[in-house]
Amino acid sequence: MEGVSDAVVRGLLGELGGMDFCVSEFLRVTHHPLSVSTLRKHVPELETGGRTRSGVPVQVQLLGSHPEMMALSAVQAVALGALAIDLNFGCPARRVNGHDGGAALLKCPDRLERVVAAVRRAVPGGIPVSTKIRLGFEDPDDVFEVVVAAEAAGTDWITIHGRTKKQMYRPPADWARIGSAANRVKIPIVANGDIFAPSDLVRCRAITGCSAFMVGRGAFRHPGLLPRLHLPHEPAASGAGWRWGWPARRSLLLRFVSETRLDPRFRTPERAALARLKQWLRAMAEVHGPSRAAFDVIKRIQRLDEAVDALVNFSCAHEPTGPTWDVPARDALIGSSLP
Ligand SMILES: Cc1cc2nc3c(=O)[nH]c(=O)nc-3n(C[C@H](O)[C@H](O)[C@H](O)COP(=O)(O)O)c2cc1C
Repeated sequence: MEGVSDAVVRGLLGELGGMDFCVSEFLRVTHHPLSVSTLRKHVPELETGGRTRSGVPVQVQLLGSHPEMMALSAVQAVALGALAIDLNFGCPARRVNGHDGGAALLKCPDRLERVVAAVRRAVPGGIPVSTKIRLGFEDPDDVFEVVVAAEAAGTDWITIHGRTKKQMYRPPADWARIGSAANRVKIPIVANGDIFAPSDLVRCRAITGCSAFMVGRGAFRHPGLLPRLHLPHEPAASGAGWRWGWPARRSLLLRFVSETRLDPRFRTPERAALARLKQWLRAMAEVHGPSRAAFDVIKRIQRLDEAVDALVNFSCAHEPTGPTWDVPARDALIGSSLP
């Protein structure tokens, strides 16, 4: 997820388990193939065999409409170590669609087919090339033509977010249409949209008939969710432990600050690290009362050291514990040698 699931987040969530693979933020391809430096900057896992530190494969996601440039970029990513490529035809952002990218291609299945086919032809057979779509741009029934086109182009699987571009993120996701689309093709369909709890996965599986799922916002709001969804465990029977309490959430957030600041691959400047900390806590605040209260405490704070202090001092009685980690001392997170 662009602006959300960067390499630090992928590393942290990957360690918690429950992911068979994850996907990079989209990399936009325009009139030139992506450069080595762009690929390495946004997907630093390429330096470690294309996997997060806990071994989760990272798909490099490309977004664009120019078949040749997309193919050359995919080849470059694979040459650098990418284990799989994902093609984004779901992004609803106006600036992206206005430049003929993302969900704009859903209006022209033949053009989408040409992009997928060009990438599939260019990338070695052992490297999966998958396709990420929404149900359509405006008409959700367009999904039927689009999945057939992507399959004809040789994509290995299709992830379907059960909304049109026009619907943006308005609930609910249309799982039934994902199931109908899956019946039109032979390749695997990965169902996506609104899986926020183990019980959602159970219903999504029953309605779509799919056996693979992609989780976006739910994993960010509930870091304990993915390990509980991982089949063959029966998600419904897995109890409430996936709803982390404040101590585990705080520990993860402090670890996030620590890595984003101190890891030499990132060394994120203080203001940006503070913004990312608030972003993650705000996402948690949507589903967890103490996180909401903690967010209220730090939302106007302008300095990272003050925000970290506030989180360390923010305590909550009767909160379930969960995993916690040792993080470097506060002064190391703020250190004067850092940007
Ligand atoms: C802030 C944000 C950024 C996103 N960035 C991407 C992206 O870069 N690539 C992509 O395929 N989907 C992206 N998505 C869409 C998600 O992958 C997913 O399809 C959507 O959020 C629905 O799934 P969910 O209900 O599990 O979040 C993004 C979504 C959000 C909210």
